[in-house]
Amino acid sequence: MATATTRTPRREAFGSRNVFILSAIGSAVGLGNIWRFPYVAYEGGGGAFLIPYLCALLTAGIPLLFFDYAIGHRFRGSAPLAFRRMHRAAEPLGWWQVLICVIIAVYYAVIIAWAAMYTWFSAQLTWGAGNENDFFFSDFLQSADVADVGVSLDFVPQVGLPLIAVWLVVIVIMALGVKRGIGRANLILMPLLTVMFAILVVQALFLPGAMDGLNAFFTPNWEALADPAVWASAYGHIFFSLSVAFGIMVTYSSYLKRKTDLTGSGLVVAFANSGFEILAGIGVFAALGFMAQAQATDVAGVATSGIGLAFVAFPTIVSQATGGSIIGVLFFGALVFAGVTSLISILEVIVAALQDKLGWGRLRTTLTVSIPLAVISMALFSTTTALSVLDTADAFVNSFGIMAVALVAVILVSWLLHKLPALQEHLNRRSSFRVGILWKVLVGALAPIVLGYLFVTELIAKTAEPYSGYPGWFLGVFGWGMVIALVVFAVLLSLLPWSGRSHAKDDPEYDDFLVDEHYAPDPETGAVTIQPSSAQRGAGA
Ligand code: ALA
Repeated sequence: MATATTRTPRREAFGSRNVFILSAIGSAVGLGNIWRFPYVAYEGGGGAFLIPYLCALLTAGIPLLFFDYAIGHRFRGSAPLAFRRMHRAAEPLGWWQVLICVIIAVYYAVIIAWAAMYTWFSAQLTWGAGNENDFFFSDFLQSADVADVGVSLDFVPQVGLPLIAVWLVVIVIMALGVKRGIGRANLILMPLLTVMFAILVVQALFLPGAMDGLNAFFTPNWEALADPAVWASAYGHIFFSLSVAFGIMVTYSSYLKRKTDLTGSGLVVAFANSGFEILAGIGVFAALGFMAQAQATDVAGVATSGIGLAFVAFPTIVSQATGGSIIGVLFFGALVFAGVTSLISILEVIVAALQDKLGWGRLRTTLTVSIPLAVISMALFSTTTALSVLDTADAFVNSFGIMAVALVAVILVSWLLHKLPALQEHLNRRSSFRVGILWKVLVGALAPIVLGYLFVTELIAKTAEPYSGYPGWFLGVFGWGMVIALVVFAVLLSLLPWSGRSHAKDDPEYDDFLVDEHYAPDPETGAVTIQPSSAQRGAGA
């Protein structure tokens, strides 16, 4: 065990498996569930979308969630360290995931800041009935014209000040560490979020016209199933929604105790996330049904995309419904809570990686990571260019970048490093739900095919015409430039020397972990199944 004489501090841990599960659900349930899923589902065929969605969940989401858990728990490190311990050449993959989190964190914080302001505005109906669209784009964001994008540094205080508040809150949570900060924040915020959301959904279901909304949401458009783009959007959504493939679950599972039921926990997390998502769809569409009835139109006429749905359609509902302010406070408050618990998991990927690489303490690393990110998010997003930068970063780095990193990870781990049998063994050692050949087929064969297809389709779509009509230079910097820079920086970061818990020998806990893993006989069969490989024992500097 680590003592005062060892070089590296003891690795942090969640207080219990339940706190880990709650924190993993807190990470998964985020902005993606509340305002992204309802619209993606509606656009993808309503009720029929549930078929590709469930297929994506069962064939890719859950298998890759197990994959992430196995890597983080077995190699017991942040994404770069876990991949490095698997094989030296895999370290850039971990940094690539860290850098994706850097980009996501920067704009994720901004949406939380908007939601925080809209929680306040809901109570006062600040936007003025009938003026919700103009209020959001012109008064609140003071957004530049899309056709005239550029980088402007005109500070917008009503976005900038709540953004500072969001960063302060997450910095305090992160600085307190895994157990006292992240674990406790989730213990408080997740039950609150669940109660708020349950009240919101029940209230929405009692609005006049709610059933029309549910009919629109659940009536299947079977033709959509023949459209490959619908399947692509289901698979694309599930990764972001489950927080899979960008380092989060690798990092969180590295804070679990040795003897943990990994797959059982994963199933709870995955089904809780999807349950929340479907509940969000029901609540949002019940409210849209009300809005459609109030405007004497159909639901298709009021269902808008992500940002518009939350910040234009919902305020309209708040203005029109009896008790609308309560609906608004619950909805935007839920967005804030769901967003904060996800943002801390995104930041933890970065903080953990630097702690491992540099051997720094928690506070120093948290401040070194968060302050520059807060400054960048202030500079980019509390200015009048916010919307176009956010939209482009989200489209390129979030969906495209995550898909690419997931594709490389499954190919590298399955086909080049041949680690799936060892990971399967690790998952099965303590878990209630055993994974077999099907899991290896899903991760090693189906996932590369599906991800490869999605990647190529996305690449063609994004090169065929300028995304959202933005100018070439703008997409070059915030779209393609960003995606390519992430890969280049990932490789560069992996070349820097490790001064933290870089070597198995420097980390007695990890060593212990491997000893237990590899030499202790199975309690039931007495069999010793895995022999240590030189890569595992000697990975590191
Ligand atoms: N999983 C988080 C979300 O859905 C990142 O927003």
